[in-house]
Order: sequence, then structure tokens, then C-alpha cells
Amino acid sequence: MKALITAGGHGTRLRPITHTQNKHLIPIANKLMLDYALEYVRDANINDVGIIINADDNSIKSEFGDGSSRNIKITYIPQDAPLGLAHVVKISEKFIGSDPFIFYLGDNILVGGINKFVSEFKNAGSNCHLALSKVPDPNRFGVAEIKDDKIIGIEEKPANPKSNFAVTGIYLYDSTIFEAVNNIKPSARGELEISDAHQYLLNKGYHISYSEITGWWKDTGKPSDLLEANRLVLDNIKDNREAILTDCEVTGNIHLGKNVKISNSKLDGPIIINDDSIIDKAHIAPYTAIGKRCTIINSKVGYSIIMSDSKISNVEDKITNSLIGIDVQIIGNHREHSAHRFILGDQSRVEID
Ligand code: TTP
Repeated sequence: MKALITAGGHGTRLRPITHTQNKHLIPIANKLMLDYALEYVRDANINDVGIIINADDNSIKSEFGDGSSRNIKITYIPQDAPLGLAHVVKISEKFIGSDPFIFYLGDNILVGGINKFVSEFKNAGSNCHLALSKVPDPNRFGVAEIKDDKIIGIEEKPANPKSNFAVTGIYLYDSTIFEAVNNIKPSARGELEISDAHQYLLNKGYHISYSEITGWWKDTGKPSDLLEANRLVLDNIKDNREAILTDCEVTGNIHLGKNVKISNSKLDGPIIINDDSIIDKAHIAPYTAIGKRCTIINSKVGYSIIMSDSKISNVEDKITNSLIGIDVQIIGNHREHSAHRFILGDQSRVEID
């Protein structure tokens, strides 16, 4: 069995972060998003992985190379433009050949990995196996219509969904999917839709089986999704304090990297702080992930992802629900009702409550 993992796309909902970095390289609890997908695939004993990248983006290759650092073999499949998920499958036909494969959207995070879906696909002996999840807002997803425990239809973002079962970003296929992706036409938004490929399989009488994801699953398209995924992972973090803590008050689990220095601060776990960061006179509230070489001084931060090399100092009001990129500086001046001065790039967003 092979695996196909996406790491291309537009990432429009995560701008401005995605103006300068690929969303699949955003850290969740200080681990790169794509590393979660690679770990699940490796745990399912699949070693031959194709990763779809935007043709003009070298960042994924620079990070993962040939895969040997992750004990996996990676082949890169460049996509000239994000023309849809069925287009991704179409351009991967040569890499997949006649093997069955898992198609995994690299921005999906779930608890418990993919072993269950792989074995249920094998047991079902079907042409396509979908992982479905009950959601409150099915009209944002591909939706499965189910009758007598069988999928009888799939619709993409329907106005009137026939069930609340969303098709998640975990799909298993045999090679009949190539017949489907080679026969469907682009949708009104100009993309080859994976839901149309699934509907093609059903129309031709092929068998689509499914599993229900009962645990936590998230498609991390928006900042709030990333923060929720970060919270979920941090909820299971182990306590590890290889750091210098001077005059600190600590509750809950805190996971500290190498050469982290923390003084005169209050830390309420779960929190993860990566190597070489410095925290002084600060309050770090739960569900905060801080990357390498950050400095937080005289400030309060909680429920946020702060990427590497950022500095926050003298910000009196709590910073929360925030996604802070690489090498960002937020400098306060301690005064109430003071003026704010911002130097902000394209499409930055500042919320002052
Ligand atoms: P989406 O989340 O549907 O799209 P996106 O990542 O471009 O984000 P946005 O909607 O905010 O612009 O994509 C799901 C996954 O598939 C994600 O890993 C990106 C990837 N993808 C490709 O690699 N190629 C494509 O043609 C498309 C549409 C998505």
C-alpha cells in the first residue's frame, strides 16, 4: 500500500501566515502539521509516500528531504496550480501505479491515527473507503447520503445536506479511482472535485464503504481550527522540565525544551515551550505553544501558537486566541490608554478588544 499526502493548495484562510509559509509547516504543539500525517502513515506500516506540493514551493522538500529523517520514503509530486483534490489524484497515477493507497489531506489532524481505516478498507474489499465524521455544519463539506448502512450519494457543499456525515480528508482507494478522476469535468469553481469522483464511482456501480470517526478530527483550514488542534494535542502532553526555573509558580503539565530559561513567572499548563526561549516576569496561561528562541517578558499570553524567534514584551493586556508567525515583535509600553504604533504587512489583522 502507498500513501498520497497533500501539502499544496492556496491556504487563503490562513493569510497572512501563508503569504510567507506553507500551512503544512505550521507547528501544532511545536510539531509541524505534516509530521502528524507522516507519523500516522508510518504507524500504519506504509513507507512509500507521495507528497503533493505547489510546483513553485521548495519549503516542504527543504524540510523533509527524501524522508530518511522520518524513516519514510518520500516522492514529491508537483502540482502546477491547485486545481482540486481529484486533480491531485489524477497527477499521481504514475506514482501510485496499480497499488491500493490512502489519500490523506495534510491539513487534517485526528486522534488515534489511521490503522483502523486501513484495516476496515481491507476487510470491506471495496473500491473506495471514506472516513466520515458527524458535524454540525455539513454544508461546508462533501456530504454522504446513507441508506441501510450504504453510501448511495455524495454531494459537495450541498445547500440542503442529506445527512450530517461529512467526508473527511482520509480516503482509501484501489486503482478504479483513476477511471473516475480521468472522466469527471471541472466544477463551476474550475476544480476537479473529489466528491464528483466519488459520485462517478457510485454511478458506475463501484462499491464505496465507510468508517465513522468517533474521536476528534479537525480540518485545520482556519486559525481557530489550528488553535483547537493545538489545545487537543497539549491536553495529552507529558510533563518535562529540562529547564532553568527561577522563582516560578507552576500548575499543570509543562513541556520545556533545551536551554529554556524561565524566571519570576506564572505558568499554568498545559504549555509547551521550545529550545532556547526566555520567559521573564510573564504569565503563560493554558494551551500555549511557544517555538524556539522566543522571548516573552512582562506580558500575559494564553491559548495561542507563537512560532519561532518572536518577541513579546511589556504587553499588559492578555494576548489570547492568537496565531503569531515567525520573527514577530509585539512591544507594549505599559501605559494605559497609550497610542498604538503598528508596522504591518499585507492582510495582517489586529484585534484590540
Ligand atoms: P483546502 O483546505 O480545501 O484548500 P487550501 O489548503 O488551498 O486552503 P484555503 O481553502 O484556505 O485556500 O485543501 C485541502 C488540502 O488539500 C490541503 O492540504 C491543501 C491541499 N490541496 C492541494 O494540495 N491541491 C489542491 O489542488 C487543493 C484544492 C488542495
